[in-house]
Amino acid sequence: MKKYAKGDAVRIHLTLNGQERSGVCEPRMLLSDFLRDGLGATGTHVGCEHGVCGACTVRIDGVASRSCLTLAVQAEGRCIDTVEGLNGGGDGLSDLQQAFRRNHALQCGFCTAGIMMSCADYLQRKPDPTEEEVREMLSGHLCRCTGYTNIVKAVMETAEERRARREQSNK
Ligand code: FES
Ligand code: FES
Repeated sequence: MKKYAKGDAVRIHLTLNGQERSGVCEPRMLLSDFLRDGLGATGTHVGCEHGVCGACTVRIDGVASRSCLTLAVQAEGRCIDTVEGLNGGGDGLSDLQQAFRRNHALQCGFCTAGIMMSCADYLQRKPDPTEEEVREMLSGHLCRCTGYTNIVKAVMETAEERRARREQSNK
């Protein structure tokens, strides 16, 4: 593994939401800070900064990960997805985002980006979850607005819509 010294300026190259990006950071900089302050991707929020709340969740090479527990230098050469890319670069909202809006699952919105990144990863791996499984997945996120009910509804509705689309395309 490459060794860094305090005060080094390191140039990081990564793919952010499908686009090649680069920026300079100190070796100790967190990925969450690099995304927000170095690359201007402020959709990723920072809450606890020690891996508890889940607000900073992004996908690293497709896997939901805490960006506050990852150093920016560890993202060198990786593919990072943030909430800004959740709609695949299109003009509209993704199905998951639309379901959050329909079900009033946004609430104050602070934890929402991180939750949606976890949900996006989860629904790829587990397209037909039970409500209990969705609640278990969401237990990795702390929402200060207290109501997880609408968030669960939005995730279940997204899974249901995707199931209906799959069945339609298999006909
Ligand atoms: S800010 Fe990363 S888990 Fe809370
Ligand atoms: S929506 Fe307000 S903290 Fe989660």
